[in-house]
Amino acid sequence: MCGIVGYNGYDQAAPILLDGLEKLEYRGYDSSGLAVRNGKNEIEIVKAKGRLRILSEKTDGGNALAGSCGIGHTRWATHGEPSENNAHPHISDDKNVTGVHNGIIENYQELKEKLLRHNYRFYSDTDTEVAIKLIDYYMKKYSEGPVDSIARAMTRIRGSYALVVMFRDYPDEIFCARKDSPLIIGTKEGETFAASDVPAILKYTRTVYYIGNQQIARLGKGTAEFFDIDREPVEIEPKEVKWDAEAAEKGGFEHFMIKEIHEQPKAVRDTINSIVKGNSIEFGETGISDEIIQGIGRIIIVACGSAYHVGMAAQYVFEDLAKIPVRVELASEFRYRDPLLLKDDLVIVISQSGETADSLAALRLAKEEGIRTLGIINVVGSSIAREAEHVFYTLAGPEIAVATTKAYSAQLAAVYALAIQFAKVRGTIDQQKYEELLAELGTLPGKMEKILEDKERIQWFAAKYSNAKDMFFIGRGIDYAISMEGSLKMKEISYVHSEAYAAGELKHGTISLVENGTLVVGVCTQNRLFEKTRSNMVEVKSRGAYLMGLTSYGNYSIEDTADFTVYIPKTDQHFTTSLAIIPLQLLGYYLSVARGLNVDKPRNLAKSVTVE
Ligand code: G6P
Repeated sequence: MCGIVGYNGYDQAAPILLDGLEKLEYRGYDSSGLAVRNGKNEIEIVKAKGRLRILSEKTDGGNALAGSCGIGHTRWATHGEPSENNAHPHISDDKNVTGVHNGIIENYQELKEKLLRHNYRFYSDTDTEVAIKLIDYYMKKYSEGPVDSIARAMTRIRGSYALVVMFRDYPDEIFCARKDSPLIIGTKEGETFAASDVPAILKYTRTVYYIGNQQIARLGKGTAEFFDIDREPVEIEPKEVKWDAEAAEKGGFEHFMIKEIHEQPKAVRDTINSIVKGNSIEFGETGISDEIIQGIGRIIIVACGSAYHVGMAAQYVFEDLAKIPVRVELASEFRYRDPLLLKDDLVIVISQSGETADSLAALRLAKEEGIRTLGIINVVGSSIAREAEHVFYTLAGPEIAVATTKAYSAQLAAVYALAIQFAKVRGTIDQQKYEELLAELGTLPGKMEKILEDKERIQWFAAKYSNAKDMFFIGRGIDYAISMEGSLKMKEISYVHSEAYAAGELKHGTISLVENGTLVVGVCTQNRLFEKTRSNMVEVKSRGAYLMGLTSYGNYSIEDTADFTVYIPKTDQHFTTSLAIIPLQLLGYYLSVARGLNVDKPRNLAKSVTVE
């Protein structure tokens, strides 16, 4: 979950590294560090505990470190507490090898003992220091070069890693290796970049190489060569990144999160337009044919965090429209529970980053069992996108705020499209219904824009309740799925204890937590369930709750019960999540702002969870 940047060129490296790390700070932010090779061919290292800003101050924005080749790291601690000592880069005893790492080395203890027996000494608690010293060990043992030594270390290391390494005796080169952790290489005339994610280098180049699993790269100034673990050269074709560099900037908004909330209509529109052609859906490159759709007996959706909540909403939509049984599972549970998979299952993995370790492991498990897999992914070329049999790309663009908004919305649009097409192909809806649903899908972006126009009301409400301690979100069916995501947004960025409950389940325990002034949000977008949920709202109100109602225009009777009501435009009942989530995202956002918190980088969280 850490962020890595490398630069080899002719400009000053440190400011470029800091700039890249700033774009990657969403991946971890408890400490950071830089290593730059100076004019005397010595590697200088500076590290700092805390936010990147501290490292930047310590190095005068990078100006204090002269040199045009270097590596940087922003850390989310796994092995060893956040401290300057544990911060990367790490260096071998005689300064022969210096490197940064993202991932987890599972057998680091065993490797450390081996190195201790060979007189290596350790100054940190990290698994990274072990990896760096292991490379150094092989280099000396076999008197070989960097690629060979890295390859030898790779055969001994178990776990996941993206490693970017400099060698004292190879002044004009940087070396990289990866297994199961993200790493990309960018090149332009005379300059080469390495990074955990595209936004870090977007400002400099759009030519990107996606280095494969268990591959090694040698980066010169403007050149990149690749090798497999047997040290044989491999060819990787560069790809042109289409993301716009400005998309990774705040563009006048106070935070990335509010900018991304406003980008949701576009994310949904772009995702829909990529597959809806006139009156029909064409999955094109995803390779999902009618024949495949007809052969599917069950869908299993696997994901983490908000992507899991997309799955929760999707299950209602798929089952109702296409009449296919759906299971939704947390990837971290699925991967370890020996799931009973059937040969006509379709496993759908939903992930913004395409790098979430548990989701990737779940995908691999399904593939090992010979089950058809489909990834709904935002980041092109990410691990899940590369490994899934079919890929449906959401077109949300780069998402920087840790708490997802626009990627979540784009994922919802993708699952709606899938459900509609499945329903048509399997004959559970007729042509007229198909066209109606497609037409309604097309209206969602405009309706989302309408909701955003009215954001000040939510801002006012959030400011009024900024001291809330506990919050409950209740709903039934799709409204329960909406509640789960609303509640997650609240706790992620506002640190308010918040829980989502299936409204009918309240009486089995949770209602005992409701006391005078407890804030409860009742989500009532499903006409069929409106009265049921409203009666649950009455129950909590009579126990002192302060009630916010969230429903569609027209359901005005909610005001008899709710103290504060937010209305969303009417839409097909299957699609209400896309609209109802916006006020809840805004509520989380404005509450976080009112409490003076770091909205885009909430404590202890990272955007891309590449460790299990
Ligand atoms: C982290 C992020 C969440 C995200 C989840 C899954 O927890 O903070 O916003 O929903 O990971 O990430 P993925 O990239 O797989 O969608």
